Amino acid sequence: MDKIIVDGPCKLEGSVKISKAKNAYLPILSGVLLSDKKITLNEIPNLRDINTMLTLLGNLGVGIERNGDSVVLDPSTLNSHEATYDLVKTMRASIFTLGPILTRLHKAKVSLPGGCAIGTRPIDLHLSNLEKMGAKITLEGGYVYAETDGPLKGAHLVLAFPSVGATENLMMAAVFAEGITTIENAALEPEIDDLANFLNAMGAKVTGIGTKKIQIEGVKELHEVNYTAIGDRIEAATYIMAALATKSNVKVTDFNPSHLEFVLDELKTMGAKLNIGDNFVEVLPSDLKACKVDTAPFPGFPTDVQAQMMALVTQVKGSSIITEHIFENRFMHVPELNRLGAHIELKGNTAFVEGESKLKGAPVMCTDLRASAALIIAALASEGKTEISRVYHLDRGYDNLASKLQDLGAKITRSAES
Ligand code: UD1
Repeated sequence: MDKIIVDGPCKLEGSVKISKAKNAYLPILSGVLLSDKKITLNEIPNLRDINTMLTLLGNLGVGIERNGDSVVLDPSTLNSHEATYDLVKTMRASIFTLGPILTRLHKAKVSLPGGCAIGTRPIDLHLSNLEKMGAKITLEGGYVYAETDGPLKGAHLVLAFPSVGATENLMMAAVFAEGITTIENAALEPEIDDLANFLNAMGAKVTGIGTKKIQIEGVKELHEVNYTAIGDRIEAATYIMAALATKSNVKVTDFNPSHLEFVLDELKTMGAKLNIGDNFVEVLPSDLKACKVDTAPFPGFPTDVQAQMMALVTQVKGSSIITEHIFENRFMHVPELNRLGAHIELKGNTAFVEGESKLKGAPVMCTDLRASAALIIAALASEGKTEISRVYHLDRGYDNLASKLQDLGAKITRSAES
């Protein structure tokens, strides 16, 4: 296990290139299972979750050839319908393989992902709607068994909540379903549009992209495709907040700022000086004031940026209030931030954060992916050395974090934990 040491406070300067989005490539890689034709995916980020998904595809029989940061996949050799517990337990997104395997092979056995650090995260919306499409589903021994007699049937599906994963799983399941599938109250996250664009690029018929009503007309076959996913808006938000927390001048490039509109508007209201272009945001040193933030499905404030925002507002003028509405237990960063000298009090799903805290380096521990990003931001703003352990959480979703921050001038090193 590696650890990261930050010697703060750090001033950042320069520009940082955002990698392609983990949350776009995870469903897209699952979508590979739909096809039996060659698929080339470019600029694959070097992330633990992406590697786990590739291992899962390999175990299912998909041919995988790495070519620099591109990967050429041959799903014609798919020879298993089983996603086993050993991989699924390390990454919930493995459940995205259920819809594609089922619609292609008419049977699937996928381990139940179970809970995770940030909450229970059920998959009832995935399963009940697959049943509406004609799947017979049973749960046994920690596994979902799904099967159909012949193709799935197009259906009118209304999601009780705009779940990102359920929208993606059902969209993929519908690619070969007979007739038309409509998903109402679909999630609006940009990664869903990206998945739909990928599916269409290989011959699927998805319409209503970017709306709450997505329609998928079943097709009989797909063709070869060469695709590159969108930039990672959550990684971009993390660097923007790191720059603001350290009053730095940083240009964050290679992503679409409209995917972060709500966050950028909030930051501007707080006093952030941002120069926003088509594919970049330049952060200028700014004096910020407190905010009141409520997480919400897209286009609202992303739950995946809540922890980073909390680290940032420990450094602004006034007290902030942050309420988490998507996951019930997404405050694991709070005790760790308080170890660094933050003053954050939790009441239910709301955090009350005092601003202008003098943070001081201390040993802290990563607990989940975005909580870890919050610790990095706080460490950059802290006086002295912060030792961050269990950085494998960061490796799930941040491509070359330490070296990107080093290139911005941060005093950050990574070493093997003794
Ligand atoms: C995805 C993202 C994750 C992000 C989340 C919310 C990926 C790989 N992960 O996760 O980073 O934090 O969206 O933006 O893209 N729910 C149910 N039943 C279901 C499905 C979900 O009750 O069948 C609930 C969940 O428990 C949670 C909420 O809906 O409270 C949101 O979950 P969902 O949108 O499905 O998130 P994920 O797809 O798991």
